[in-house]
Amino acid sequence: MRRKLVIGNWKMNGNLAANASLLAGISAGLSAGAADCAVCAPAPYLAQCQAALTGTPVGWGAQDMSAHASGAYTGEVSAAMLVDFASRYVILGHSERRAYHLESSELVAKKTVAALAAGLIPVVCIGETLAEREAGQTNAVVGAQLGAVLEAISTADVARLVLAYEPVWAIGTGKTATPEMAQEVHAALRAQLAQANAAAAPAVQILYGGSMKPDNAKELMAQPDIDGGLIGGAALKATDFLAIIHAAA
Ligand code: PGA
Repeated sequence: MRRKLVIGNWKMNGNLAANASLLAGISAGLSAGAADCAVCAPAPYLAQCQAALTGTPVGWGAQDMSAHASGAYTGEVSAAMLVDFASRYVILGHSERRAYHLESSELVAKKTVAALAAGLIPVVCIGETLAEREAGQTNAVVGAQLGAVLEAISTADVARLVLAYEPVWAIGTGKTATPEMAQEVHAALRAQLAQANAAAAPAVQILYGGSMKPDNAKELMAQPDIDGGLIGGAALKATDFLAIIHAAA
C-alpha cells in the first residue's frame, strides 16, 4: 500500500518572517495520522526549514539543483549542499525550469542521477502543454520525459523515485485535470515504470500537481494511481496546505 505524500512547492515566494509563521502553522496543525508531507523552499531558506522542522513530521527540500557535484558553476547549488541542510527531497524538471531555463529531459535525467547518488529523493516532474494535449500527444510527451530518466538511472533506483504529473496548463491557472484525466496519465506512467522495474513500480508514489486545492484534493487523491499532490499556490497558506494533507489521509 502506497502512503500518500503531499509536497508544497513554494516557488520563488517567502521571506524569513512569512516562512516562520507558515512553518509553525503547518507543524502545529498536523493531526495524528496525517499523510506524509514536506515543503520545498527556495535554497536560502533551507537552514530555516531545518531549524523549524527538525523533530516534526514535516520534511523539507529544494526546488532544483545542479547536475554537477562542485566547481565553476556560478549560481548553482549542488546535491551535497542540499544534504548539508538535511533536505530529504528535491523537485527536478518542474515545467517552469523546463520552460524558463530550457532544461531538457536529458538534463533532468542527469540531475536525477546526481540527486540519487547524494541520497536525496528526486521528485521528477513531467507534464504536457495544452497544445500537446489538444494534439493528442499527452502520453507520448510524458512518456518521453519519464523515459529519459529511466534510461539514465539503474533498474534498482526506480524504487527511489517520486514522480509528479503536472499538466502545464493546470499549473497556477485554477484549471485542474479531472480526476479521470489525471488517473489515466498516472496509470500510463506506472505501466512505464513497470516495464523498467516490475517489482518496484507498484510502490512508486506518483503525485498530481496543477491547481490542487482543498476543495478538489480529495477527489483527485481518491484515484487509484494518484498518491498525493505537489502543491504550489495552496502551499503558501497553512490552513489550505493542511486541508490538503488531511484530505490525503
Ligand atoms: P499550483 O502549482 O498548485 O499553483 O498550480 C503546482 C506546481 O507548479 O507545482
